[in-house]
Formats: sequence, C-alpha cells, structure tokens
Amino acid sequence: KTITVVNVPFDLGAGRRGAALGPDAILNTGLIPRLTSLGHRVEPIRTVNPQNTTAGNSVNSLSGLLHLAEVAATNRELAHETAAIAASGGFPLVLGGDHSVAIGTISGLAQVHRKLGVIWFDAHSDLNTAETTPSGNIHGMSLSALLGKGHDLLTGLGGPSPKLRPEHVVLIGVRDLDPGEKALIAAEGIRCFTMHDIDRLGMAKVMEEALRVAGDRTDGLHISFDIDSVDPYEAPGTGTPVRGGLSYREAHLAMELLAESGLVTSAELVEVNPTLESDNRTAKLAAELICSLLGETIL
Ligand code: ARG
Ligand code: MN
Ligand code: MN
Ligand code: MN
Repeated sequence: KTITVVNVPFDLGAGRRGAALGPDAILNTGLIPRLTSLGHRVEPIRTVNPQNTTAGNSVNSLSGLLHLAEVAATNRELAHETAAIAASGGFPLVLGGDHSVAIGTISGLAQVHRKLGVIWFDAHSDLNTAETTPSGNIHGMSLSALLGKGHDLLTGLGGPSPKLRPEHVVLIGVRDLDPGEKALIAAEGIRCFTMHDIDRLGMAKVMEEALRVAGDRTDGLHISFDIDSVDPYEAPGTGTPVRGGLSYREAHLAMELLAESGLVTSAELVEVNPTLESDNRTAKLAAELICSLLGETIL
C-alpha cells in the first residue's frame, strides 16, 4: 500500500487536554520504519494544523457544544486531506487527536467512497447530539454527526449529509452508553457488538460478522479505532477509560483479521493521551495495532 499519515494534534473535542500529543507519541515508537519494513510505501507526513489550544476557549454555550468552531475548522481541513489521499488511491492513516477528528476523516473519505463501510472500535458509541450529550464534548457526537444527526456545522462539513448509512456501520467493544445513544442505536438499527457479545461469541466470530455487515455492498472500508476500546490495563493513557474492555490479544486478533480480509482502505487511531501515563504504554500499543492492521503477522 501507499500510506499517507495525517497527524491531527487536536483535543478540543474532548473534556480534557492531552490527546493532541497523541500523534507524536505514536510516531516516536518508530511507526514509520515499521510500516516501511512491512513493504509499504510511506509518503511524507501531513499535519492538519488546528486552531491552537490557547485560542480554544470559545465555548458555544448556546448550541451546547464545546469548542464547536475549532472542531469544525479542524475537521474541514482534515476532510480535504483524506479526500485528496483517497482520490489518488492512497491509504489515509489518521493519527488523532480526540475522536471528533473522525468527522473530518470520514467526511473526506465519503467524497470518494459513496458507500463507505465503517468499523468503529470504542468503549462508547459517540452517538450523542446536542440534545442528549451529558458533557457537551463533541468527541462523544462524531458518529451521530456522520449519520446526519446533530449541528449543521458538523453534519454538513465537507459534503452533503449524511456521510454514512447506518446499515454500513458496525460498533465493536461498546460498554458505556448514554440513554440517548441507546435510543439512536435502536432507532437506526446500528449493528453493535458489545463486550458482552465479544465474551459470548469470541472476537473471531465478531469480526467475521462485522466484515459481512461493513463489507457488504460497500465501496471502501474505514477502521475508526478509539484506543479506549482496549481495556485500561493495556491502554491507561486515554481520557475516558472504561473497565472491561478488549484484551491485548482480542484487539490484535481483530486487526489481524481485518488485514487478512484485504478490504480495509483507510484507518484512524484516536484518543491516545500521553499525559495520563509515564511510560508511553498506550502509544506503543497503538503503533502495534496499526502494524497488525497493515499486515504484520506473528510468523
Ligand atoms: N458518552 C460520553 C459523552 O458523550 C463519553 C464520550 C467519550 N468519547 C470518546 N470518543 N472517548 O461525553
Ligand atoms: Mn470514541
Ligand atoms: Mn471512547
Ligand atoms: Mn462493563
């Protein structure tokens, strides 16, 4: 593959700062040489320059969305990048940043892939809107915005809304939902493999089903990986940890099976917050998972 890494050092979509340091922490593990040694061509890194954090005090209290202007501006720029990379046949690999960057990543991809499948790994579902959010944090609203629910500045960014159809979206690793999110999952019929389902079925079976849903009559497959899908024991460096998550091997197996499928056309890895740990454990895990997704195998 020809991979272009897009750094998005942005964290105003989250309730606490620090995920803006995620891209550098992940890259500092030696990610690029590892991707090269897997046989990929890696293009020069692009960085989406968000409004800087000190200016990021604009709390749009009227809309109930925190830092709406900064989130929208950053994602508009990011959408240009992923659209251009995908249009040229490259593989966009976005390093966040908080999960609000999925709005930009996927809005750009949707310009090229009219029927994009998405597998969304997350402890949460990020399906809140201004009406249902308990926090006002836009990283908890990115998937709903992509499905066409929420503020116009988010849903209308980088092309017509909706960017995704609910039948092409699969959630994996879910264990913390707000009431409005549960209602939206039911109303839209979104396939959701909770931790309970993973316990019962096993990750191999879950991935088989997920690939069937997100890979059925779609023209591209994007992996949106929130590192908080993994158990906090393995991934403590993240802003909204929830106990009872994916084990180290479950997460790797999922990535390995995705690589084997040959269907994945883009990916993003978000919510690594190096300020919440001292040993870069979470950034190292993130880099390993990316390598597994891009073809690294044990043997
Ligand atoms: N559901 C909570 C909220 O809306 C938490 C969202 C966490 N999202 C994330 N991408 N880590 O605030
Ligand atoms: Mn998320
Ligand atoms: Mn999450
Ligand atoms: Mn639980």
